[in-house]
Amino acid sequence: MNAPAAPAQQTPPSPLHPLHPLHERRAELARRLHAAGGGVAIVMTAPEVTRSRDTEHPFRADSHFHYLTGFDEPEAVLVLRADGHSELFCREKHPEQEVWTGVRLGPDAARETLGVAAAYPLSQLDRRLPELLNQAPAVWTVFGSGDEPLDQRLDGWLAEVRAQSHFGHAPPSTHRDLGVLLDEMRLFKRDDELALMRRAAGISAGAHRRAMRFCAARFRADPAGSVAEYEIEAELLHEFRRHGAAGPAYPSIVAAGRNACVLHHSAGAARLRADELCLIDAGCEFDGYASDVTRTFPASGRYSAPQRELYDIVVAAQEAAVAATRPGLRHRDAHHAAVRVLAQGMLDTGLLSPDRHGSLDDVIEKAHYRQFFMHGTGHWLGRDVHDTGDYLARDEAPFEQPDYLGGRVVKHPSRKLEPGMVVTLEPGLYVRPAEGVPERYWHIGIRIEDDAVLTAHGCELISRGVPVQADEIEALMRSELP
Ligand code: GLY
Ligand code: MN
Ligand code: MN
Repeated sequence: MNAPAAPAQQTPPSPLHPLHPLHERRAELARRLHAAGGGVAIVMTAPEVTRSRDTEHPFRADSHFHYLTGFDEPEAVLVLRADGHSELFCREKHPEQEVWTGVRLGPDAARETLGVAAAYPLSQLDRRLPELLNQAPAVWTVFGSGDEPLDQRLDGWLAEVRAQSHFGHAPPSTHRDLGVLLDEMRLFKRDDELALMRRAAGISAGAHRRAMRFCAARFRADPAGSVAEYEIEAELLHEFRRHGAAGPAYPSIVAAGRNACVLHHSAGAARLRADELCLIDAGCEFDGYASDVTRTFPASGRYSAPQRELYDIVVAAQEAAVAATRPGLRHRDAHHAAVRVLAQGMLDTGLLSPDRHGSLDDVIEKAHYRQFFMHGTGHWLGRDVHDTGDYLARDEAPFEQPDYLGGRVVKHPSRKLEPGMVVTLEPGLYVRPAEGVPERYWHIGIRIEDDAVLTAHGCELISRGVPVQADEIEALMRSELP
């Protein structure tokens, strides 16, 4: 929960300053609801998920819900009207249960702490919702969120309003997607959100540094030995948690050697050897915000010649992507810039050959580069690691273009970047053995990923607390453990 304690000088009903981010977010959503014709929005937090028998997965609040409430208890619902009125439904105080599962805020304290106009026990939801929905022009929920319980209950509430039609009651006549409004709001991060994202990225950078030094120390002590991926994962987790992060924002990818060619290889029991690269794609979640950072370093602290050749190409590709990440350019421009550098590198190193694959333009147009770089160069980042927000400019005319399979696609242009957006920049090269591919590169997998905040004139890389340049990584790995 990120709602602060009430400042002493404030008066009821709400202890939150009107400019507190939670008030601002709810007020902004209400404005958008109003502009879209009005109605009542219902946002439910995430369900608790059973891990096995009577044990649950750690609870994580729904991202939209937490964005609007700062409330991280399970079983809670926010209702917001277009006039700005807000009501929260949450678990009642329960002294016996609280002995087992912790203190509950309870509706009485929730109203003040979260700054909502009213708060009720969950048991009041079925009584209150038909009242709130009566005469509303529309009901808004997040479509496609897998919230079956909410959909089912909504049917019941609407039926109840309709059953009172002889008293002049009328249910909303339209059901609209609240995700369209919230996704767009969340795409643009305010200063308070950026502060949390900088913190998350900083902790993650420290975890990558720790992992590099850990490997270097192990191989210094025993050059013929090996390190298990899970041992490295433990170092990451240690660093996340000791700085107050909730944990990894996604399952940590720790890939020893050839496992780096599996894009989402989770840390397992494979062992890293001194002459191999280690690819780590890991980022923590801090107060609801994700970071997403990848580094690829030599296990022993020194890149071999072929590793270094490919590594430097990926560094150059990321530099090109960074240069193409500024307001006015399009989200996809960073990808095009990275692909150009990577494709040239593939031709220069012989991964692709002009005889078989043609010129640089041919390699790009016919997508030959996809043999070694098969994913996008970045995505929105925020509360979710692959955050909300449209990637296309739907207000611009669609166009038709050939696709690399010989067909044609019609699509909108990529969206223009604006200050306050946050993107990842993550080019890579992954070399699987194949005919015509020089053997010295086989099984090398490299990705470099940083988190970039769009500023007025460019972007700020908030995850650079861990170096990227090969020489700097080698220097870090030569240094002693902190
Ligand atoms: N860590 C997942 C990704 O980079 O998209
Ligand atoms: Mn990513
Ligand atoms: Mn990643």
